[in-house]
Amino acid sequence: MPELRFPEGFLWGTATSGHQVEGDNVHSDWWAWENMPGSPVREPSGRACEHFWRYPADVRLLAELGLNTYRFSVEWSRVEPEDRMIETSALAHYRDVVEAVRAAGMTPVVTLNHFTLPAWLGRRGGWLNPRAPERFASYCARVVEFLGDRVDWYATINESASVAFGGYLGALDFPPGRKDLRSWERANQALVAAHQAAREAIHGVRPQARVGQTFTITEWAASGGGVPVVEYLRAMMEDVFVEASADDDWVGVQSYTREHLAAPAVLEPVLRRALASGLVRRLVVPPAVRVATRGFGGPRRMAPGTRTTLMGYEYRPEAIGAAVRRVAELLPGKPILITEHGVATKDDAERVEYISRGLATVRECLDDGLPVLGYLHWSAFDNFEWALGYRPTFGLIGVDRQTQERIVRPSARFLGEIARSGVLALPGDS
Ligand code: BGC
Repeated sequence: MPELRFPEGFLWGTATSGHQVEGDNVHSDWWAWENMPGSPVREPSGRACEHFWRYPADVRLLAELGLNTYRFSVEWSRVEPEDRMIETSALAHYRDVVEAVRAAGMTPVVTLNHFTLPAWLGRRGGWLNPRAPERFASYCARVVEFLGDRVDWYATINESASVAFGGYLGALDFPPGRKDLRSWERANQALVAAHQAAREAIHGVRPQARVGQTFTITEWAASGGGVPVVEYLRAMMEDVFVEASADDDWVGVQSYTREHLAAPAVLEPVLRRALASGLVRRLVVPPAVRVATRGFGGPRRMAPGTRTTLMGYEYRPEAIGAAVRRVAELLPGKPILITEHGVATKDDAERVEYISRGLATVRECLDDGLPVLGYLHWSAFDNFEWALGYRPTFGLIGVDRQTQERIVRPSARFLGEIARSGVLALPGDS
């Protein structure tokens, strides 16, 4: 059977985010968004996976599988439930989580913001509040001060692009539910400023901390008139954030699928001019981006017979290799950690295949000398998939929604075995 070998010291693990697994995250903007009358969210997060209380057993389980890294997030709204009111017991909770991860022999990778904001900031405009970047940096400094030398790896913000096009352009049903180009552009700028301010603040407290942020990078397949549109989308949804990370210690790459944008070639110059013109951009771009990004479950235009996931995405494990290459091209030599890659499916064999085919492209990136440090699979558990509720199942470990029982799937053991041995055995002819 052919084998692919990965480097010694490769980081192997899974990722989660606070709001998606902890439960009762009552002070966050998402909680308010889910529970408001007429909410676009399919069901509220409620008790989620009760990971806030069950983390000791959850963390042990991940380590027993053979994984050596766990990425999770600190909830700003628990740490600062009211403006400038720091809740020390919440900080102590996250320190306990870090200790549990370390005691289990795993490296903690801590995300400081994964989509959610404290409700007090959400009520004041969210990322459009002029003070948001500075308030975020100050919260990050408090967390890092508290966790001290127990954590080396920090991601400031998870997928700024999704936050901005999801909540400010209306491409996903994310709070605060704004839907205009100006808000989108301003949210992008604020998120860049917030990341950079946070990086400075973290290094101010702990110069040795390795600070990065995580990007959502799509594999784009464009032709003809689709080419200028993809260039525009990449600039607004990917490059703006990747370039803001030029001085980071590492970058996180996440990819879930490939998007096709084809349009007749005659449209190419027209679209190029339109995208360069302010007025047309204002009228055309918001609906166009909503169509192009129709992510998180929307219907998509795909060739008949295309294999899809429960998200409605094209099943395309190899997108991760393309994403790594794209980021490596923009930031040559920058250490890359794959911070998410996964698939929503009811059939766990599809997850095994997804991991295997994705890792084969990662191995090719390593062969080409790209500095990939590790692979963290999304996600450890079936969890709250934002506006889509609990329907899309991404977990290596299933969670019974009634009893909270953890169900270890074969894919979890498959990834654990690769982590232990550093070897991926490919299905061969013999
Ligand atoms: C996000 C996760 C989400 C996953 C699957 C990523 O965009 O960081 O929070 O659950 O994709 O959709």
